[in-house]
Amino acid sequence: MNKVKKRVLFVCLGNICRSPAAEGVMKSIVSQEGIEDEFEIDSAGIGDWHVGELPDSRMRKCGVERGYHFNSHARQFTLADFNTFDHIYVMDHQNIQSIKAKASSKADTDKVEMLADYLISYPAMDIIPDPYYGGIKDFNYTLDLIEEACAQLFISLKNKQ
Ligand code: 4NP
Repeated sequence: MNKVKKRVLFVCLGNICRSPAAEGVMKSIVSQEGIEDEFEIDSAGIGDWHVGELPDSRMRKCGVERGYHFNSHARQFTLADFNTFDHIYVMDHQNIQSIKAKASSKADTDKVEMLADYLISYPAMDIIPDPYYGGIKDFNYTLDLIEEACAQLFISLKNKQ
């Protein structure tokens, strides 16, 4: 039977640190499970400053150390993404405000969730923090959060229709 694909978009501010990492981690989980054909996974940024660029070299380095290859090219979120994707996961309060402000229906608004809502062992964290102005330690911490949230998100999505 042909299953309906789950279409998942990760969004952050620049699409060079957090959302491409979430895209890469989620793709890796889905690939390990052997169900790539059941998912469409992408990422986008709210701003256009980095369009076309590979993820930040610091995030790529942290990824390689954990076996990921974050190699998507940055693009800006567009209104068409509300039609293309079933689920849109954002990283912080500023992101959720920006994306929900672009929604033109309740159905679209309801597609937007915080990725940090899927964290289970960081009770104080309600966002995936932006590491851009930090150092490698900050990138690694952000990637720790993304790995846990994506693992939990995958379990949740797998059980959905
Ligand atoms: P991201 O991080 O939203 O996780 O990709 C940022 C990258 C670049 C900028 C801001 C945040 N910037 O202002 O250029």
